[in-house]
Amino acid sequence: MTRYVVKTRADSPALKRAAMAIEASAWNALGYLNFTSAHFKHYDELLERFAEFQICLVDEDTGYPVAVGCALPFFCADPAKLPAGGWDWIVESASRMDVAPNMLGGLGVSVPRVHRSKGLARLVIKAMRDMAEQCGFEGVVIPVRPTSKSMHPEVPMHEYIAWTDDNGRAYDPWLRSHLAAGGRIVGEATRSMVVEEPISFWEAWAGRTFDKSGDYAIDGALAPVKVDLKSGMGRYVEPNVWFAYQAA
Ligand SMILES: CC(C)(COP(=O)(O)OP(=O)(O)OC[C@H]1O[C@@H](n2cnc3c(N)ncnc32)[C@H](O)[C@@H]1OP(=O)(O)O)[C@@H](O)C(=O)NCCC(=O)NCCS
Repeated sequence: MTRYVVKTRADSPALKRAAMAIEASAWNALGYLNFTSAHFKHYDELLERFAEFQICLVDEDTGYPVAVGCALPFFCADPAKLPAGGWDWIVESASRMDVAPNMLGGLGVSVPRVHRSKGLARLVIKAMRDMAEQCGFEGVVIPVRPTSKSMHPEVPMHEYIAWTDDNGRAYDPWLRSHLAAGGRIVGEATRSMVVEEPISFWEAWAGRTFDKSGDYAIDGALAPVKVDLKSGMGRYVEPNVWFAYQAA
């Protein structure tokens, strides 16, 4: 049976490079998310500064990482009342670091396609909870990006969350994973990631032109992009689902 060991990007430069490659390939098609103000200004620098929080699940036999999870320590006043801002809020809070951290903010889990559906992402979530406990934090909060929501961009998130499959389980596989891992839904992060860029930016990502103002679906996006010809801008506001985990 394959055995996995939890390491971090701080353990070795080779591991850091491998983790960066896994993350880049998992998120390649959603590159427009790199353009939220928080991502653009702080993300890369924070991953470097807090390398010991960037989880790498390593196959003990091969020494290669098979799943990675990014997280940042930050101060969270009340995990039962999380704001509309989600991913961007955690990154901005961590970048200020003006109050001692009491919480780990999960920002993403990436598993290469060949290793999916083996339960590895759930091991990464568990590793985040263990890490929060080791640090003496209250727990982990994660603005979760339901992976199949992109097939239903027009559906409001509160409706989507309630969908179930034939077995009565959550319809969305990634929400299902978080629920199976012991997470509790706290609410919606209605403005988790906000990207506002010129229309030409969105046309490049969509591979088509937008000649009218209105809402447009873009591959992988969880909600439509709102295009406004008058201002020449397109605005994407990504909704996520807030999950809270107590430290393990
Ligand atoms: C979303 C993503 C991280 C999920 O990775 P994963 O490793 O396949 O997810 P999980 O660990 O939850 O695997 C769960 C599935 O494996 C199955 N599985 C197989 N063996 C298992 C085991 N030993 N333990 C638990 N689950 C197992 C489960 O049954 C489950 O499927 P089900 O819910 O339909 O029953 C991955 O698809 C990915 O990297 N996507 C691109 C990036 C992304 O969207 N990340 C999420 C937003 S942050």
